Amino acid sequence: MDAMPSLDASTLTNRQAPWDSFDAEAYLKHNYRSLRADDRQILSAVRDHFAAHFAGRSLPGAGLRGIDVGAGTNLYPALAMLPWCGSITLFERAGGNVRWLRSAVQDYGANWDEFWEVLRRQPAYLTVVEPRTRLAGAVEVVQGDLFTDLPERAADIGTMFFVAESLSAAYVEYRGAIDHFAAALRPGAPFAVAFMENSLGYEVGDHTFPACKIQRSDVLAGLQEYAADDLKVSHIDVPGSQPLRDGYTGMLLALGRLRD
Ligand SMILES: C[S@@+](CC[C@H](N)C(=O)[O-])C[C@H]1O[C@@H](n2cnc3c(N)ncnc32)[C@H](O)[C@@H]1O
Repeated sequence: MDAMPSLDASTLTNRQAPWDSFDAEAYLKHNYRSLRADDRQILSAVRDHFAAHFAGRSLPGAGLRGIDVGAGTNLYPALAMLPWCGSITLFERAGGNVRWLRSAVQDYGANWDEFWEVLRRQPAYLTVVEPRTRLAGAVEVVQGDLFTDLPERAADIGTMFFVAESLSAAYVEYRGAIDHFAAALRPGAPFAVAFMENSLGYEVGDHTFPACKIQRSDVLAGLQEYAADDLKVSHIDVPGSQPLRDGYTGMLLALGRLRD
């Protein structure tokens, strides 16, 4: 019998990639066991962006509706939205990540404490006295495909971290993911979107996942039509001794708000 041809991650589309085999624990351990210098930089910038956006604004009594698209095993985007949110949807395709999220948000691990410490340097976060309890009460984990199942115009604040460029090798799907993320936000909603720059793919446990090689100009091309004029895209260098993937050249962070 012929051997099955092995899949080449550099050509995989979103539907072809092995999301059901995404190893949540391996991804968590590789990326979020402790706070990296690049994530610290991103977290600080996202914190200041959201705090500046909401300074002096009154919020509805029940709080805002937040969404993190493709949450994986990363809780820091949700923590960054917490002071303003009554509810936060963690939207995710992979079953292993969904199970991890449902369990983790009940009483999140001690590794996330140093992420929260960074957020607490901004006074808006001091209104959240017990972040574990607040997160557990706010989060709903929803399993779905962002290309077909994301509710439109449903969120007042949103994040999507290392997803649009890390779900397919196809540029059209990179752009499609941004289109669907933008469609999930309400006009005026502040957002933060993070990307791996020039990534060609990544290993999680025993499997290889695709990425689309993108740069700053691609981030601007994807978001500019949806964002208000104050969109900012910054580059975060790879910390010297700690590359996360082969070949990538840093992270890109887009901070803005949806056009009214
Ligand atoms: C590189 S991981 C990023 C995870 C996390 N956001 C982070 O910051 O580390 C890419 C994530 O996108 C999710 N994903 C891939 N395709 C998706 C789709 N069509 N709809 C929703 N999530 C998807 C994967 O399951 C995975 O959790």
